[in-house]
Amino acid sequence: MAKSTTRWICSDCGAGASGWFGKCPACGAWNTIEQRDETPVDRVVLSTGATAPVRADQAPPEVARLRCGLAEVDRVFGGGLVRGSVGLLGGAPGIGKSTLLLQVSAGLARSTGTVLYASGEESTPQIAGRAQRLGAAVPQLLLVAETRVEAILEAARELAIAGELAALVVDSIQTVYSDAAEGLPGNVSQIRACAAQLVSFAKLHDIPVVVVGHVTKDGQLAGPRVLEHLVDVVLSFEGDDERALRLLRASKNRFGSTAELGVFEMTGGGLREIGNPSEAFLAERPSRVAGSCITATLEGSRPLLLEVQALLAPAHGGARRNCVGVDPARVAMLLAVLERHAGLPVLDQDVFVNVAGGMRIVEPAADLAIALAVASSHLRRPIDAGLVALGEIGLTGEIRQAQRLEPRLAEARRLGFERAVIPPLPAKFEGKRTVLKLSQVRSIADAVAAAIDG
Ligand code: TYD
Ligand code: MG
Repeated sequence: MAKSTTRWICSDCGAGASGWFGKCPACGAWNTIEQRDETPVDRVVLSTGATAPVRADQAPPEVARLRCGLAEVDRVFGGGLVRGSVGLLGGAPGIGKSTLLLQVSAGLARSTGTVLYASGEESTPQIAGRAQRLGAAVPQLLLVAETRVEAILEAARELAIAGELAALVVDSIQTVYSDAAEGLPGNVSQIRACAAQLVSFAKLHDIPVVVVGHVTKDGQLAGPRVLEHLVDVVLSFEGDDERALRLLRASKNRFGSTAELGVFEMTGGGLREIGNPSEAFLAERPSRVAGSCITATLEGSRPLLLEVQALLAPAHGGARRNCVGVDPARVAMLLAVLERHAGLPVLDQDVFVNVAGGMRIVEPAADLAIALAVASSHLRRPIDAGLVALGEIGLTGEIRQAQRLEPRLAEARRLGFERAVIPPLPAKFEGKRTVLKLSQVRSIADAVAAAIDG
């Protein structure tokens, strides 16, 4: 039997303590204390009825996947939604979470069966109107405007028991409430209680559940951290106001990689998948200007061509470094290497580096493109528009090979690039034809010469 105990918790981060506090010991927030009766509703029922242990070599390893038909979404989920899993889709207000999930719901309804889309934010005529505009109004898509989680789950349970339910969507976790918890929707107790019941439902009925979560201004999911621990998949939907591009990423995925990226464009008719994101990211690329270099990164399984831009200007006072989409510490290191090993006096300059299209690059294979963009801006000479640069730069100015070179070169070829500046090919490429002309360089000085001077 679960004992009922009283605990003190932080309404910001959800951390618990056994006594009252003014400042949360976990996240440092002030006056966020809440007293909570730890009722059994917080316990998540993970049992699926089969409690007998199974042999690891005999248990079926396959997880059943439901594909929604939007390839970009299915890939980020790891190949479709897993039955019985709970996903959380986070994103800023207005970014397109409801739109995306409505399209996903329609896709699942078409491919698999009834999808229940429960909204605590909009009325059914509102959602239906949008669904009709998006071509998502399919008969198997059922809408309910409801904020009481027990009522949502009652409707879902009926459909599940009848064997009709393919998936449940709840928009959003901050607007639903449970009879089992105190306070207003969106508070920590409510979010926990609702999430716990949704997770239990998913596991017991083997139905995928996707929940929308709002994020706070600093990009964190609003609500307790426990929410992220409770669910199987945490996705975020990102983009900015000026651009229609939207990126879907997984920050946690119990059933797949977190490296996959889904790319969409918000249009008048909903979200459109961008199957060739390199083209979108390079679309606004200026031609024949100094300070721009293209690299081929890998986002999960997919190569992606991105433009790195750099601008150097004489510093007045202390030299500034302003980096968007790349690690400033990495840029600082590359500037030092350029100065020492390529003879370019860049350290006393103001340096601005940006990845076009609002993307972030984390892999070191982009070092060479960053360094070449900086060198190009410094020398005021453009890099040939048909050139991609790939390689990690070491402190002695040496260049190291990027992982999985072939798909990157193939993507560059597909987009019309002709030449790649890379470090010397490993022996396994000996005698093999490559899809691009290669300038193989050992050092940063050679790379600058190959890409800019000659
Ligand atoms: P929405 O999905 O409601 O965002 P969220 O649920 O994340 O708050 O989308 C909101 C924005 O998207 C809104 O500003 C209008 C725009 N939008 C389009 O541009 N085209 C469309 O087809 C739809 C449905 C929305
Ligand atoms: Mg919404």
